[in-house]
This record gives sequence, structure tokens and C-alpha cells, in this order.
Amino acid sequence: MNASLQFSNAAEFVTPLLTVFAVDTASKPDVPSLSLLTTEETILAAAAPFLNSGEFKAEAGGTLLLHAPAGLKAQRLLIVGVGKSEKLSTAELRKAAGAAIRTAKTKSILDAAIVFPKLDENLDVVAASRALTEGILLADYDADTYRSEREDRSMQNIALLGDTSLRAELESGFHEGEVFAAAQNFARSLVNEPGNVLTPAELGKRAAAMCEANGLSCEVHSTEKLKELGMGAFLGVAQGSVQPPALIVMRYKPAKVANNNVVALVGKGITFDTGGISIKPADGMDKMKYDMAGAAAMIGAMQAIAALKPAVAVISVICSAENMPSGSAYKPGDVLTAMSGKTIEVMNTDAEGRLVLADGLHYAKTLGATHLINAATLTGACVVALGKLNSGLFSNDDAAVALFRNAANTTNESFWQLPCTDDYRELIKSDIADIRNTGMDRWGGAITAAMFLKEFVGETPWVHLDIAGQAWIDDARSYIAKGPSGVAVRSIVEWVRVLAQ
Ligand code: BES
Ligand code: ZN
Ligand code: ZN
Repeated sequence: MNASLQFSNAAEFVTPLLTVFAVDTASKPDVPSLSLLTTEETILAAAAPFLNSGEFKAEAGGTLLLHAPAGLKAQRLLIVGVGKSEKLSTAELRKAAGAAIRTAKTKSILDAAIVFPKLDENLDVVAASRALTEGILLADYDADTYRSEREDRSMQNIALLGDTSLRAELESGFHEGEVFAAAQNFARSLVNEPGNVLTPAELGKRAAAMCEANGLSCEVHSTEKLKELGMGAFLGVAQGSVQPPALIVMRYKPAKVANNNVVALVGKGITFDTGGISIKPADGMDKMKYDMAGAAAMIGAMQAIAALKPAVAVISVICSAENMPSGSAYKPGDVLTAMSGKTIEVMNTDAEGRLVLADGLHYAKTLGATHLINAATLTGACVVALGKLNSGLFSNDDAAVALFRNAANTTNESFWQLPCTDDYRELIKSDIADIRNTGMDRWGGAITAAMFLKEFVGETPWVHLDIAGQAWIDDARSYIAKGPSGVAVRSIVEWVRVLAQ
């Protein structure tokens, strides 16, 4: 798909589908209740008879398609609502651009143009251009790559039509949007791969190829190195599978640094989670190929970091394994010794993500991390607690949370903080080892998982994202097809940029 930013007159632009945004201005007394976000008289005139009919209300994501619009070179005019004017935000623009592309795709219209909206002063042009570009590119992604006759047909050309007076801002936002969306779509493509294709070794190959193409260094290790490092928790999980584990280490070194921060991105890369000996029910187990979405988010984020070149050192540690039941699998009751030296009583082999991350987080610290962030499809309990619209956010450091919140505000991703305070530590005490890998009872399972991770980060500022509920979506949303969402990629990259200041 070729997405471009063009500075042409929208009315004269030859395209099968021209998109313009409409805002609901009902709360503003002196203006008609709906306005198109363009000053282009020909477009306003072409749309007027339809808009005046009152059938279209400009609700967010609503669409109205007009054929042969009078006076325009476009074959069709698509009007996409962005909701109430006072609520207009980058989030709404991203969704609206996505709605335009998803509408075009369902009608097999594979060439389209979008008129960059006329904005109030309170909306930043760079941010708007970035959000629209992200919406366009994220909406183009579909997951049916293994269908012989693909229903999805990727868009061929999309042009964002801007005004030359805003050229510099539009270009900067467009470029950023391309980088962020490509990273997120790359993560989605990894998450979409089935477990038989994307083994830990294959994940290592894909990460290495990305690094090679983007000037990052990358090492992929396996069992021997894990033994050398004493990663007993990670090895415990991996030992049940014939697929060897992969410890992937990616590094970004900036030309100039703004500070001495070393940011570490740690990802859970379970390429398939059967639950192991504590096996999961058959129903829905197929989905457990997405148990490497945290790893994919970090690999995607590293791709964006390589392109954006923030002035801070970044490393990424991915712990990838397959969690299988077998004669060699670890068992409930086993005691594992983590790289940090802590001993862990395994109560449930399905609580494997925290085990691989325990060694990944500790290892990242030995590599010099001053800030840690991890993403993981860690617990079903987090989905029970927050539903599917927010990911869990846990931390040992309020300042790190504040910076992460800034980042997530920029990217419009939703995270909700849950407690991770020491009073919960009681719940992961073991009778025979330092800690156990599940809580005493079934309550607060997302928190006990976070408490377990906290044991391995010490005093290093750390943010843990539990993305179990958001990494895979069952119903398509405005700009995201059903399937892998690529959640957290944008916010992780943005957080790194904040830490580069
Ligand atoms: N990969 C799962 C968590 C998960 C659940 C991800 C649903 C995506 C959707 C994780 O390894 C797991 O199985 N966790 C257990 C922990 C329990 C055994 C303490 C869970 O959440 O049930
Ligand atoms: Zn599990
Ligand atoms: Zn898992």
C-alpha cells in the first residue's frame, strides 16, 4: 500500500473516493449543527443537499457516501463523522481516518484520498497529521493472511491532502505516523502467526531480520546461554517443549545521549501457552498463540526506535518459549532457582509468563537498565478486572507512572493502574521456597502476578503492562480489524522518547 501526503486541491483531485470529516457543532449557538471540516467551497456545495436533509448527524465513526458529487473530480464523496466539536481530539481523528479506510475496503475501493481537516487552534497540526496517518495505516491491516482467496484486499493508494501553508507540520506528523503505524502493524503480523510457524527460534529470526534492516544490534541465544546465565525460571518453562527457547537481546545506541538512562523493554514471548501440566481447557486454547504479544510489542517498538532515533540508550530482552505438557515438562511442586538466586515454588505451570519475565527483568538489570518496562499477556484475571478496553498498569515508581501516563495521553492508548504495594506480598509467600508463582487464592490474580515480577526488579523504576485483554480483539473497531491489535507499541515508544529528554 502506498500512503502519501500530497498538497493538491481536493476538489480537483482525481480519485474513486474523497473523504472529508464532519463535526457535530450542536452546542455552538450560532453555527449550523453540523459542519464539514474543510473550507473548500466546491466540497461544501456538493455535500450541502445531503447534509441539510438531517439524516447524517456527524456522530463519531458515522459515514455517509455520496456518488458523483457535483463539481468534484472524485467519483464519490465519503463524509465521516468525528463527533462533537468540543470533544474533537487526535483520538477521534485516528478513528475517523480508520473508519474511512475500513469503509473503502469493505466496498473494494482500493484508492482513496482524505482531506486534512480544518482544525481549531487547540489541536496541534503535527499531532493531528500523525493520528490521521496512524488511523489510515492501522486500518489497512487485516489478519487473513493464510486464506487462499483473501477477503482482505489491502488499499493500493491513499493520499492525505493537505494545505501547503502547513507543509512542515504535516510532513513531520505524517512521517511519525508512518513509523508508529509500521511498528504496530509489524507487531500485529508477528502476533497473528500461528504457533507452528512462529516458534521461539523463528521469533528470534524475525527480530534479527528487523534489527539487521534497521541498524540495531541483535543476539539470539538458546538453552546453553540460559544455563550459563542460570536462568532457572525461564528454563523451567522451556523444558517441556521440543522447541528450544530463545533469549533475544536487541540494542539501540544513539549517536548522542541526552542523559545516562538505559531503558530496557522486556517482553513475554510464549509462542504457545497450553498451560503445561496444569493444562488449559480446549475451548479457546487456539488463541494462546497470542501469548507472545508482549514480545511482539517490544520488537515493533524497537523498529520504531531505530527510525525515530531518540537520544537515549535502549535495550530489549525477549524471553521466548513454548509452554507444553510432556514427559520433560516442569510440574506443580517443582522448585526453580531464578537467575537472581530467588527460589520459586511452582504452584501452577500455567503461570509461566511471570517465570520467564523474572529472568528477563533481572537480566536486563545486569545489562545496565536504569528503567524497566515489560509488556505481557500475563493474566486472565486482568481481563476480568478491567474488561477489554484498558490494559493493566502496575509499577514500583510514581514518577515512572507519571511519565508513562504522559506517553499514553499522546498515543491515546488506555491503561488503568492497579495496586502493586507490598501489603500484597503475603499472597506469594511459599512454605518451602522464597516465593510461589501464584497467589494464595484466586482473588486479585493480576496483582499477585505483578507482585511476583516486582520481586525481580528491585529498586529500578519499572512499569508492567498486562495486555491480556487488549492484545487480541474479537470484534473489529473503527480502525482496528479483529485479531491482533498491536496494543502498547505506540505508548512504549513514546515513553522511551519521554525518557530521552
Ligand atoms: N497466557 C495466560 C494469560 C492469558 C489469559 C492471556 C487470557 C490472554 C488471555 C497466562 O499464562 C495464564 O495462563 N495465566 C493464568 C495464571 C493462573 C494460573 C494463576 C490465568 O490467568 O489464569
Ligand atoms: Zn499460562
Ligand atoms: Zn501465558
